[in-house]
Amino acid sequence: MSKSVGRNNSTTSGQSEALRLIVGVSGGIAAYKACHLVRLFKEDGAEVRVIPTPNALQFVGAATFEALSGNPVSTTVFSNIDTVQHVRLGQEADGIIIAPATADLIARLAAGRVDDLLSATVLVATCPIILAPAMHTEMWLNPATVENIATLRRRGITVLEPASGRLTGVDSGPGRLLEPAQIAALSRTVLAGQKIVHNWAGKQVLITAGGTQEDIDPVRFIGNRSSGKQGFALAELAAQRGAQVNLVVGDTDELPTPAGAHITKVRSAREMAAAVADLAPQADIVIMAAAVADFRPANPAAAKLKKGQHDESLAQLEMVENPDILSTTVKRRSVGEIPAETVIVGFAAETGDAQHSPLELAQAKLHRKGCDLLIYNDVSAGKTFGAPTNEGWILSEKDSVSPRELQFGSKQVVAAQILAAIDELLKEIA
Ligand code: CTP
Repeated sequence: MSKSVGRNNSTTSGQSEALRLIVGVSGGIAAYKACHLVRLFKEDGAEVRVIPTPNALQFVGAATFEALSGNPVSTTVFSNIDTVQHVRLGQEADGIIIAPATADLIARLAAGRVDDLLSATVLVATCPIILAPAMHTEMWLNPATVENIATLRRRGITVLEPASGRLTGVDSGPGRLLEPAQIAALSRTVLAGQKIVHNWAGKQVLITAGGTQEDIDPVRFIGNRSSGKQGFALAELAAQRGAQVNLVVGDTDELPTPAGAHITKVRSAREMAAAVADLAPQADIVIMAAAVADFRPANPAAAKLKKGQHDESLAQLEMVENPDILSTTVKRRSVGEIPAETVIVGFAAETGDAQHSPLELAQAKLHRKGCDLLIYNDVSAGKTFGAPTNEGWILSEKDSVSPRELQFGSKQVVAAQILAAIDELLKEIA
């Protein structure tokens, strides 16, 4: 049902044309969060039209949606009949994002009903459709809802996994609406042509992210410029595929916790190695996106090293090698401590050197580390670290001569392609 890429964004005059997005809102308390979502899409430069259900207007007034979107709001198929609005909006849209999607709306969409302007628009649309559900845990887990969601997903509609947390009232559990920034980011990924397929339920995914910090003394450490964004994007999308995600996190920029991921905080390479050693035997997929320090100070000082008193220690730090977590994990798999079918994925950030291109170094690293896939990118001249976008190649023993190029895009768009490649590999070894 969904077309893979949104709109061709360039016109003959060379001016980029705004994406036409519909934000659908159904009647739940989380409807107020749709206001922020509209804002975010408007900031992207999209032309936004809000279509609430009649019940959504019990929570947020039409005036708010009209002011935020800059477009009129109606709920019924009987308004603007002269322009055949109930058909036109769905035909012209580049994407439909419904947040919150209540159990009732999901049931109506699964049945193909046309009770109001929103359900009519969805039934007409051929563009990507993304639902961000919000409801009480009991409704989310009810077999009726579970079946309705499976039906919609089978038809190509993206139904996002909700967050777990505080719901209306005092209860807490799965069913909470994702934060608007998360819905916007996931929607952009789908609109960029990446599919979010829900086929990893029951799988465990272990991901490392961020940089390690190796202590020199209680106030100084050796760190690196990894932001953690790529690892967090992988965790967010693996959880959206339905997997249980363990994210082992070193030092990162301030990043929102991916919905559904369990976080273990670490600082040093040895702490990261210990966390991975614990979690890897249960994992179906291990992805090492962390930037791990290869060496650490041999004798971190217990008290702050003072200039004038410890100049020699500060000028000439003695270093020792850290464990190589990726190679150790591959070795444990080869001796049966980790199941043979566990997929192991490494990253390589290369700058190249006088004799070798970055790609040649990445190919050598793939052989050396023995992982199944190596995601390689070029970090010469500060590229990639901390940036919101990424690019690169996927190397495997099979494709190491002609590696697969990753479509340039946000780190989430890149993450979606990496997970799709892992998914292919899982199917091959199944
Ligand atoms: N890695 C690891 N443990 C280390 C160093 C790296 O698990 N001590 C992992 C990283 O998480 C990444 C991959 O190995 O998935 C490659 O990291 P990189 O730093 O590029 O590799 P190195 O072995 O350190 O190679 P070099 O420094 O020679 O480029």
